[in-house]
Amino acid sequence: MSANRPAAVVVLAAGEGTRMKSNTPKVLHEICGRSLVGHVVSAARELDPRELVVVVGHAGERVTAHLEERFPGTRTAFQAEQNGTGHAVRIGLAELGGVTDGTVVVVCGDTPLLSGATLTALAATHAADGNAVTVLTAEVPDSTGYGRIVRSPETGAVTAIVEHKDATPAQREIREINSGVFAFDGRLLAEALTRVSTDNSQGEEYLTDVLGILRSAGHRVGACVGGDHREILGINNRVQLAEARRLLNERLLERAMLAGVTVVDPASVQIDVTVTFEPDSVVHPGTQLLGATHLAEGAEVGPNTRLTDTSVGAGARVDNTVADRAELGPGASAGPYAYLRPGTRLGARAKAGTYVEMKNAAIGEGTKVPHLSYVGDATIGEYTNIGAASVFVNYDGEAKHHTTIGSHCRTGADNMFVAPVTVGDGVYTAAGSVITKDVPAGSLAVARGQQRNIEGWVARKRPASAAAQAATAATERATGEN
Ligand code: UD1
Ligand code: CA
Repeated sequence: MSANRPAAVVVLAAGEGTRMKSNTPKVLHEICGRSLVGHVVSAARELDPRELVVVVGHAGERVTAHLEERFPGTRTAFQAEQNGTGHAVRIGLAELGGVTDGTVVVVCGDTPLLSGATLTALAATHAADGNAVTVLTAEVPDSTGYGRIVRSPETGAVTAIVEHKDATPAQREIREINSGVFAFDGRLLAEALTRVSTDNSQGEEYLTDVLGILRSAGHRVGACVGGDHREILGINNRVQLAEARRLLNERLLERAMLAGVTVVDPASVQIDVTVTFEPDSVVHPGTQLLGATHLAEGAEVGPNTRLTDTSVGAGARVDNTVADRAELGPGASAGPYAYLRPGTRLGARAKAGTYVEMKNAAIGEGTKVPHLSYVGDATIGEYTNIGAASVFVNYDGEAKHHTTIGSHCRTGADNMFVAPVTVGDGVYTAAGSVITKDVPAGSLAVARGQQRNIEGWVARKRPASAAAQAATAATERATGEN
């Protein structure tokens, strides 16, 4: 790859993207967890160019800020008015000091499916054929809107690219189109760009005119026919945005499956480019895996689960769960119907069960919170069992407080742990307790009202009611039996 290392890559991303009908600039729309321009910059980086510059214009500050945050070190050039792709490349080259020796690759910021491998193949063809310019082309089922590749009927050599709006009816029949991706000789490009006119239906400086200019001057013009036309899909509206997401998602899941991940129903699973898997992990239908989510070996997630920046340990099980920035140890389990919020850490074989919400909570190895509970701002030791319907009362209306529970505890059902509070190792608590004071290790804590039975109350206060009749019948049966 480094043999064909380009001197520079210029990414064109100044256009407005009117057809998106959006307040967000087109290239900042996202698919699979990355912006459109981000996908292009990532692919371009695989070429390892000496310089990379993104030409921004419409909402340029937002695009620049986004690139600085996500792709630090990316240079940008500002194109104040969008006078065409040729003009945009001139602005990009000016940022790099005007003339660049070596190969300059140009790509559009709205083709997110373009792979680094395809760019590498283009650079290799360009170098091997000794071309002044090489255009990446593709045969598409519907070439409407694209620039058409015009070839010499005798030699088959590329003679020109004609934009859809400028094409004759015969040229519109051509199915081979310009992907908008080129490799140029940097010197010849800079020179040719000074000669591009605005004499066309859109009154713009077309980068595509450079081909004709170089050819007329006797230079070699070549084409690299891309294998998969879906790779060069340009996004102009939200229908194409959804289509691109589907295609990229398919590609990502295929890669995962070939690496040993079982994806039961790929059509209903959505993943981001940043998700990582180990072999023998399993993804069930209706699952979204987002951000830096990682599934370790044998982990099983879904159905109907959304994990964001969440790490699932080996053999762990996550079912019908929403988790964000959570960490599950090996063999841990969550759900069905758990909500794990940021800072949840389940130790090995720990459990967050049905209708359990956790936040900023470290749950020790083998500890279980099986049913209907909220655990917020807490540390729980190992092999403890938290009774059903317990609440860690962490908020006093002004500040959050922490609860610490030891190892090997058995807390009763329906407990409130009113933070800040500490429960020692090996403690039992009675059902229905409101624990407001620390509990020393090994104690039984009982914190609830004593039960009183007022006998005969129903017969006196609710005479003739169904309850009273039932009570009378029960008394008679008991007497009869004796
Ligand atoms: C362009 C090509 C066409 C090709 C198609 C592939 C030209 C003249 N036409 O057409 O042959 O088939 O891409 O998708 O090159 N941009 C700027 N500054 C400008 C104008 C455009 O940065 O002044 C950027 C846009 O943001 C976009 C890219 O260049 O990322 C392409 O521009 P667009 O207007 O979408 O060109 P197309 O009409 O699609
Ligand atoms: Ca376009």
